[in-house]
Amino acid sequence: MDVVWNTRYNTGIHIIDEQHQDLFATMDRLRKAVQVDAGRQAMEELLSDLILASEQHFSTEEAFMAKYGYPDLTQHVAEHASMLTSLQELRTKFRENPQALAVLIPTFMEGWLKHHISDGDFGFVTFLKARNLA
Ligand SMILES: [Fe+2]
Ligand SMILES: [Fe+2]
Repeated sequence: MDVVWNTRYNTGIHIIDEQHQDLFATMDRLRKAVQVDAGRQAMEELLSDLILASEQHFSTEEAFMAKYGYPDLTQHVAEHASMLTSLQELRTKFRENPQALAVLIPTFMEGWLKHHISDGDFGFVTFLKARNLA
């Protein structure tokens, strides 16, 4: 099954939606690379793309939240930081056992991202809407 962005994840903030879509697309590329056994190097490059895109996305979101004085910023930053730590640990494990981890990582990331957008990012959207900022 494809890993796809869905309109239910639409925050209404253009750059954030674009970045979420890009994260889903990269997870899907990684999953497909695993399915066709694209090789360790191709998978590791996609994994690095995923980490880089996550870092950029988290920074963007945190800058928005800081700009608007979002009260749950600290908690949200901690969730992002914890995800980046997990992804970096998974990359280390991937280098030891590429096959097993290549299957696990997109599934783990997809579950985390869907949950985080719904429970975390939407908290910020609700905050903005309540103040007529979004
Ligand atoms: Fe997000
Ligand atoms: Fe977030």
